[in-house]
Amino acid sequence: MKRIFSGVQPTGNLHLGNYLGAIRNWVRLQSEFECLFCVVDMHAITVWQDPPELKRNIREVTAGMLAAGVDADKHVVFVQSAVPAHAQLAWIFNCVARIGWLNRMTQFKEKAGKNRENASVGLYAYPNLMSADILAYKATHVPVGEDQKQHLELARDTAAKFNNDYKVEFFPQPEPLIFGTAARVMSLRDGTRKMSKSDESDYSRINMTDDADTIALKVRKAKTDPEPLPDTLDALAARPEAANLVGIYAALSDQESAAVLATFAGRQFSEFKKDLTDMAVSVLGPINAEMKRLTADPAHIDAVLKRGAERADAIARPILAEVYDIVGFWRG
Ligand code: AMP
Ligand code: TRP
Repeated sequence: MKRIFSGVQPTGNLHLGNYLGAIRNWVRLQSEFECLFCVVDMHAITVWQDPPELKRNIREVTAGMLAAGVDADKHVVFVQSAVPAHAQLAWIFNCVARIGWLNRMTQFKEKAGKNRENASVGLYAYPNLMSADILAYKATHVPVGEDQKQHLELARDTAAKFNNDYKVEFFPQPEPLIFGTAARVMSLRDGTRKMSKSDESDYSRINMTDDADTIALKVRKAKTDPEPLPDTLDALAARPEAANLVGIYAALSDQESAAVLATFAGRQFSEFKKDLTDMAVSVLGPINAEMKRLTADPAHIDAVLKRGAERADAIARPILAEVYDIVGFWRG
């Protein structure tokens, strides 16, 4: 059986990177797989979150997923902390995964920065919780952006080590699904840095809540160089900001970057940016309007999440019971 698990953190606005790198792919995979889509609040608190803001963000991110086309009737949409299996299995994986494996995780190094001694233990153990998210449902496929590839490899290693240590064929090897041009959308201010919720400049990203005027302003202010658009991918690769904008246009219009260059080569960025704005507004405008409608009705969002938690729990609970048996925990 093919089962998808994927997650998004409720740490702020969803942005174009989340949409193109993850959520849009979730929507497209819904016809082929049984899916669980999770708002990972336990991952969020690995760095400080203001409690009322976290609650607000959980509903907003859920609204974003639904507005983008996630089908909460056919599939399971829920909040991580509402299903105990995530924390329970994460502890077991803390005892399976090795310190040496976690020491190699580049996201921890980036997020902890220079002051590593002061990072939370949760930030360090984060990949084990992510492995638990996926394997508590024995998910076989995990659609993510490029930045999560290393964590997925760790989840595969952890599944294999668990099976090997306990001499069982229990957990599957989850496959990452990483798609094309938008697997890594970069900041609009710096083409060498990932577009991120945590960037202090709002001009670095296009949020799924931005209206048409805000999108136009951010695209106009996006960093570029004075050269017109090149006609080859090689020439484009040497210009990170240009490559990012072309990549965004390609992803939004469902083409390859080469096809975008075939249309726009030789034109100035001032001109290209107008087309890019129109393209972004045409894709994000309807999602934005639907998000507004959904966030005005928190009772509906809460009902979706409540039902999702019940359905997720019903899948994870028997899997966890087997894990407890395998490990030798007392279950009465
Ligand atoms: P996060 O916002 O870190 O919870 O990420 C949620 C999903 O969006 C994950 O699958 C990420 O890999 C993906 N994602 C986040 N930022 C980007 C980006 N700049 N480009 C492409 N995908 C991204
Ligand atoms: N770590 C992922 C991110 O920051 C979010 C996430 C948590 C996730 N658990 C997951 C993604 C399980 C895929 C599967 O983007």
